[in-house]
Amino acid sequence: MKLIRTPHYQELSMKAAAIIIKTIQTNPTAVLGLATGSTPTGTYERLIKDHVENGTSYKDIRTINLDEYVGLPTEDINSYRSFMERKLFSAIDINPKNTYLPNGNAVDIQDECARYDQLIQSIGGIDLQLLGIGENGHIGFNEPGTPFTETTHVVELTHNTRKANARFFKNIKDVPTQAITMGIKNILESKAILLLASGENKAEAMARLLTSHKTTESFPASSLFQHQNVTVIADEAALSLVDDSKRSAF
Ligand code: PGA
Repeated sequence: MKLIRTPHYQELSMKAAAIIIKTIQTNPTAVLGLATGSTPTGTYERLIKDHVENGTSYKDIRTINLDEYVGLPTEDINSYRSFMERKLFSAIDINPKNTYLPNGNAVDIQDECARYDQLIQSIGGIDLQLLGIGENGHIGFNEPGTPFTETTHVVELTHNTRKANARFFKNIKDVPTQAITMGIKNILESKAILLLASGENKAEAMARLLTSHKTTESFPASSLFQHQNVTVIADEAALSLVDDSKRSAF
């Protein structure tokens, strides 16, 4: 695991975008695993700026997202499909057919999970998976206690996760109670992983990730210790509780 420290969110976003752009330049048909949430939005803004100014092309890039709420109409402003359209896809030259998210409105939600696993395989696996981290250490919607062997599955969202996401909704009651998420096994099968953490609310999770070095299902991000190519980019606020003398992992 490699740590890149940045003074603030803007720099974090620039560094993350630079890694993604390099991946695209090296492999114009790369499969990018993408994430939603507040953290990657600055990165997506940088990708758009680079696309406009430097012409980096996404025409043969495929993207596959980590997760989607169950039961929200696709066109709902809070669906992850609509988030991705707004924040990235509509502003770059990607073929909409090459952008994949789980279908949270599938008639058979279990079938949809199996389909998504097959899809990841059929597009050749993920070259670079972008991740945020939850305050409780979740990655994707893999909440504490999720076996690391899980592939795409349906999750009951914890109260804390729904509370954290309620800021985007009118009322916490409107936050869906379930989501489809890639499992930790899918994430660990990616060729490279890029985890972003910004802000004081991530400081406890980052201190645990960077100093405990203990792999446990009660802290899903610790599964990343099992992967050989993980880059973490964090800003000073997210690193504010890291005791450098205990930072054995880096
Ligand atoms: P955030 O979410 O980027 O909105 O903080 C990250 C996550 O919960 O994985």
